[in-house]
Amino acid sequence: MRYAINPWMREDTEVDTDLAQAQWETLIRTYRDHGHRVDHIEPVPGLPDMVFAANSALVLEGRVFGSRFHAPQRRPEQLAYERWFKAAGFDVHPPESVCEGEGDLVPAGPFVLAGTGFRTTRAAHQEVQEFFGVPTVSLLLVDPYFYHLDTALFVLDDQNIAYYPEAFSPGSREVLGRLFPDALIATRDDAMAFGLNSVSDGRHVFVAPRATGLIDQLTDRGYVPVPVDLSELHKAGGGIKCCTQEIR
Ligand code: ARG
Repeated sequence: MRYAINPWMREDTEVDTDLAQAQWETLIRTYRDHGHRVDHIEPVPGLPDMVFAANSALVLEGRVFGSRFHAPQRRPEQLAYERWFKAAGFDVHPPESVCEGEGDLVPAGPFVLAGTGFRTTRAAHQEVQEFFGVPTVSLLLVDPYFYHLDTALFVLDDQNIAYYPEAFSPGSREVLGRLFPDALIATRDDAMAFGLNSVSDGRHVFVAPRATGLIDQLTDRGYVPVPVDLSELHKAGGGIKCCTQEIR
């Protein structure tokens, strides 16, 4: 690995790029098999973290709030993603503060849940609220293994979410408890298996296979877990949701 910018990454780790590519292709195929349209961006040599497309923007009702990466190694991705959005017919609003797209900005019902503590700043949360006019709820992340909000929380459907409480400050935990009293609560094991870095279409939940406790809970609640293994990408600190930018 060329650089390490989160606790999952180690410069001395070997990555099997063929396996990573095959796992990524399986994810794309699985989305398509479930009726979801998938577009992709051409990779730029030297920008390995570009695979984590979720960090490129937040898109709501076709309006794109772009990214400003925390790590200098990832900053050149901004231009590539901006080009992709422009070519696809979207205007991109560039943030003034550090902001890592859907990594830290998660639309949930009438809110945007917004993570801070490691990457995206509170100032960016304000910008997001001004730009979209949607109430933005700041949540403080406290565990470096869960440095992005989308590693600790995901949205199940219009009403509900799943999350790992210990990734949040006590106050933020209380906020989540008030907003989502029926949330699905994940264990540390499931969170460390990237179980919360999932994508749900309201019925199917594309989820890491090793998050077995979470998978059982999803089944109990009537969701259909669809396991997709991205173990090779976990070495970079990313999973299913990180690889998925939703164009809403
Ligand atoms: N190596 C990347 C980073 O640290 C992983 C990004 C994961 N993306 C996400 N949406 N959580 O920036």
